[in-house]
Amino acid sequence: MSQRETWATRVGFILAAVGSAVGLGNIWQFPFQTGANGGAAFIVVYLAAVFLIGFPAMLAEFVVGRRAERNPIDAFARLGHRNWKIVGVLGTLSAFWILSFYSVVGGWVVRYVLGSATGAYFSGSEAYFGAISAGPEAVGFHAVFMALTVGVVALGVTDGIERSTKLMVPSIVILLGGLAVWAGTLEGGAAGYAYYLSPDVDVLLANLGSILPAAVGQAFFTLSLGMGAMITYASYLGRDDSLPVDGATIVVLNTFVGLLAGLVVFPILFSLGIEPGSGGLGAAFITLAGAFAQLPAGRFLGVGFFVVLLLAALSSAISLLEVVTTYLVDNTDRSRSTLAVALGAAIFALGVPSALGVPILSWYNAIAYNLLLPLSVLTLLLFVGWADTDDAVAELRRGTDLSEGGAVAWLWFVRTLVPLGVLATLLLGLQSLAVKAGLLAAPLV
Ligand code: PHE
Repeated sequence: MSQRETWATRVGFILAAVGSAVGLGNIWQFPFQTGANGGAAFIVVYLAAVFLIGFPAMLAEFVVGRRAERNPIDAFARLGHRNWKIVGVLGTLSAFWILSFYSVVGGWVVRYVLGSATGAYFSGSEAYFGAISAGPEAVGFHAVFMALTVGVVALGVTDGIERSTKLMVPSIVILLGGLAVWAGTLEGGAAGYAYYLSPDVDVLLANLGSILPAAVGQAFFTLSLGMGAMITYASYLGRDDSLPVDGATIVVLNTFVGLLAGLVVFPILFSLGIEPGSGGLGAAFITLAGAFAQLPAGRFLGVGFFVVLLLAALSSAISLLEVVTTYLVDNTDRSRSTLAVALGAAIFALGVPSALGVPILSWYNAIAYNLLLPLSVLTLLLFVGWADTDDAVAELRRGTDLSEGGAVAWLWFVRTLVPLGVLATLLLGLQSLAVKAGLLAAPLV
């Protein structure tokens, strides 16, 4: 086994983690989740979920990863808790599973970059989506996206992931910022801001039962929790910088990019009189692409937007592939590049059914969202809060001037409020799986 790599710089780690966090979840899913769940009211709950539940959970992953300096599966034995290995197994399997369909959507995005340049979807965005989202071509673009992901991971932690995210993350922010400024000049776009930025308390209270799990699930997904990704990235730290400061920076930047995406999407839709909120996996592609088709310089904007989406998706996908790759790098004598290619091929194969039918993709997604993620986060929280307790507190304090009291406060969050929130989400998630499978006619709560 060769010497384990570490990040070259602190900023490198932060940007890699932001790259993981900022993904399809922020730019594609977040604005549309917001639309489907009543606009600004959703954002209030989402922000609470990010800071009160997601942030402490992220620190829990960091604490495990930095101290173990191992892949998520072997980390627990390293920390002297062999029995908790299942937590790492769950996370790693989730990463494998999620990347399989994330890459299919990544393939759609590649296709839309090209389609924007040629104006291919301009004559009918719905028909275009129907034609490209499933079938042999979707499989082909899924392969292209996976190949890009494999290419970065094969190059290694510093030369591949750190270098590429250092370029990708600033590009995402700059391009998206530019698009937001431009969207601000659209006539009639202001209604979009109001919808997006001023919460309606009645809507919030009336729909809390459905808003809550959506918001918590979205918070985990967007912060890349429950998939071993943050454990893995923290395992390459090899340095003693403050985890709370780094974690807060990552959470804030990720939230900022999500909100910025909304500042692009909503003015565009409202300026054309399109109501956001029609759900469904294809909604973002169909409605937004439809909007680009109607706007002046639409090709240009379309390319800009979908390039942002592509960079965001890629910098997330590499963190998912890294989770599985690092396990084999730690446990075999094969080279990283061989392993990355082999795993990429296996995950590609798992994703083929999703590329052949959007309903299948939607199932893969629902299983990940409603079952794998909450279960994996919950078990990790139980481990950190109830098994690793004192060592976790000490690790959180390493390299900080955080008082013991501060660290203990975090611990109590991790032991109580956060797992309860996750448990509620898990139960509601199972219920929505049951509804989707036709086992339940309607949600009970
Ligand atoms: N956070 C990513 C997004 O918002 C998804 C992701 C989850 C990436 C877990 C890596 C690990 O799209």
